[in-house]
Amino acid sequence: MSVEPIILQQLPTDLSKDRLPQHVAVIMDGNGRWAKNQGKPRIIGHQKGVDVLKDLLRCCKDWGIPALTAYAFSTENWGRPHGEVQFLMTLFERVLRRELQEMKAENVKIRFVGNLQDLPASLRQEIDRSMEDTKNNQGIQFTVATNYGGRHEIIQACQRSPPK
Ligand code: FPP
Repeated sequence: MSVEPIILQQLPTDLSKDRLPQHVAVIMDGNGRWAKNQGKPRIIGHQKGVDVLKDLLRCCKDWGIPALTAYAFSTENWGRPHGEVQFLMTLFERVLRRELQEMKAENVKIRFVGNLQDLPASLRQEIDRSMEDTKNNQGIQFTVATNYGGRHEIIQACQRSPPK
């Protein structure tokens, strides 16, 4: 995981705008390893992960990539130590509350996917607010997969009514 700030506001001249991907997806991974390498607790790695994600969102927006998806918390992640899970839930909530105004101003449309019912009520409230407040934005679509997993996706697909 690189933590160099992304300061490339304009597309580098050796990249062709026509060949840019229309959707970038990232799996948040390596936060803990990064922190360990720095001799810091894992939670510092998660905080740094948020900074990197923010830089990435800005980069995609500046370069004209219309969609970014971040896989932030999988169903397997509930198996982590209780304190770490709690920290992550609080971090998500805090980040949403802190960044919402800027995302609104920057025309970001935020969307959460995954099994959101199992998340803490206060986090769900921030999620609902952020989706509601940015639903008419026309800029980059930023999707955060939270409590996602293959099993859940299969169940959802099977429950969906068949096309008429
Ligand atoms: C994996 O690193 C990362 C996570 C389990 C969650 C981190 C997600 C964020 C910080 C994004 C939050 C974003 C928003 C918009 C609320 P790891 O702990 O698996 O690292 P490791 O593989 O080195 O152990």
